[in-house]
Amino acid sequence: MADSSPHQHVAVLAFPFSSHPGLLRRIVCWLAAAAPDVTFSFYTTAESNKSLFSAPAPANVKAFHVSDGVPEGYVFSGKPQEDINLFLEAGYRSCKKAVKAAEAEIGRRISCLMADAFLWFSGDLAEEMGVAWIPVWTSGVCSFSVHFYTDLIRDTVGINALAGREDEIVKFIPGFSGGVRLGDLPSGVLFGNLDSTFAVMLHKMGKVLQKAKFLAVNSFEGLESEASEVLNSNFTKLLYIGPLNLTCPAPATGPSSFSDEYGCLKWLDSQKPTSVAYIGFGTVGTLAPDELVALANALEARAMPFLWSIKDSLKKHLPEKLLEKMNRTGKMVPWTPQVQVLAHVSVGVFITHFGWNSVLESIAAGVPLIGRPLFGDHQLNGWMAEHVWRVGVKVEGGVFTKDGTIRALDLVLLEAEGKKLKENAEWFKEIAHKAAGKNGSSTRSFDSLVKSVRAQKDL
Ligand SMILES: *[C@@H]1O[C@H](CO)[C@@H](O)[C@H](O)[C@H]1NC(C)=O
Ligand SMILES: *[C@@H]1O[C@H](CO)[C@@H](O)[C@H](O)[C@H]1NC(C)=O
Ligand SMILES: *[C@@H]1O[C@H](CO)[C@@H](O)[C@H](O)[C@H]1NC(C)=O
Ligand SMILES: *[C@@H]1O[C@H](CO)[C@@H](O)[C@H](O)[C@H]1NC(C)=O
Repeated sequence: MADSSPHQHVAVLAFPFSSHPGLLRRIVCWLAAAAPDVTFSFYTTAESNKSLFSAPAPANVKAFHVSDGVPEGYVFSGKPQEDINLFLEAGYRSCKKAVKAAEAEIGRRISCLMADAFLWFSGDLAEEMGVAWIPVWTSGVCSFSVHFYTDLIRDTVGINALAGREDEIVKFIPGFSGGVRLGDLPSGVLFGNLDSTFAVMLHKMGKVLQKAKFLAVNSFEGLESEASEVLNSNFTKLLYIGPLNLTCPAPATGPSSFSDEYGCLKWLDSQKPTSVAYIGFGTVGTLAPDELVALANALEARAMPFLWSIKDSLKKHLPEKLLEKMNRTGKMVPWTPQVQVLAHVSVGVFITHFGWNSVLESIAAGVPLIGRPLFGDHQLNGWMAEHVWRVGVKVEGGVFTKDGTIRALDLVLLEAEGKKLKENAEWFKEIAHKAAGKNGSSTRSFDSLVKSVRAQKDL
């Protein structure tokens, strides 16, 4: 029997890059509110902490710095993912050191180690410290499965033997019996630089997580049923806690995501139902200038009402004349309250990169997608959206061209097939809301996560 005792101390290790620390912070703040007697020490780099904790967190969440692994006087050479490599190379040692320091400062040993699943070494660290381990995967089960089965995939297809086979659809990967296109697997599994620190990290993670008692994932029951069943019945128990935007909406603290400083919602109020294309590529994704122009030309050619979340630094790539013409039907703003925008009745389609959070937010709002995958799991999420859930389409050839974009817009907004995509999205929306509602599966998983962080060592 797990013995619930107050004043537990939970250490939380973030992967301090892109959207990862923000999502983990969000989950932790949410846990902290539900377990006010537990102290959470949150470890991230000074650089990531700056923006992450500029807004106050609950009193029982305390931020600690962990080394970024950059040696004194180091000069960056500009290699891709250099910062990630440096962080991970020192990761195990720096995390251990930071946790020890926090234990001393707080005056209480940790009882549990929660970590971004990327940090594969956190399992070893937890074992060494004799505490429970709670890995958190902030993306979908489908992409996790692929990392889980990386060895099987490499053995079956052959490493770097993909040339000419990108369009082959294989059915041997457990959880994907309907098939998956080889070229849509995340880079670093079968192709790309398999020796990069990032690829090695994901490979190790997939292996190590077989040992985890459970894995918390930002997904919900009923979306990724087959992949989930395979993992659940053979290996790790999945704990669905998503979609985060429904299970833990409005961050208790933090910058208000509800502010609508550019009047997006008001503008949407003036548009017809399901008529508007909402365009957002997140904070890390960047489109090449020629694709920006192609997308803009397609919107202009269709006189499409649109709301485009675009930074001024990118907007400058669009010709002045085009901007003027587009000005008649749409609105460009540097920031939008995305969840509220997607939930607005006027929005008919979400044009995005198929990043996991964007896909999940779109589905949770019942909005079909048009995708232009950029990196990481985007291709695979896009495959799922188009071929498994049938809630969206990838633009022809995976890049924006004027004609390809017009065809995708017509298909989603005008044609019968688009109606079907909308119906499917609405169907998943209902399931997502049930899961996140009272007594829903994600709500219950969250409760059991709260129990786990309050429990004594043995879960
Ligand atoms: C993290 O950043 C916040 C806000 O910038 C700051 O108040 C806090 O002291 C930082 N945390 C640490 C451990 O330095
Ligand atoms: C996992 O379990 C499923 C049943 O849910 C089974 O069909 C499958 O073969 C198993 N796969 C592996 C690799 O263990
Ligand atoms: C929804 O989640 C994203 C991150 O996934 C976050 O940036 C956004 O602020 C959230 N919106 C709301 C309303 O909680
Ligand atoms: C429309 O044009 C006006 C005036 O040039 C400009 O201030 C505004 O930002 C433009 N709107 C959009 C959506 O680009």
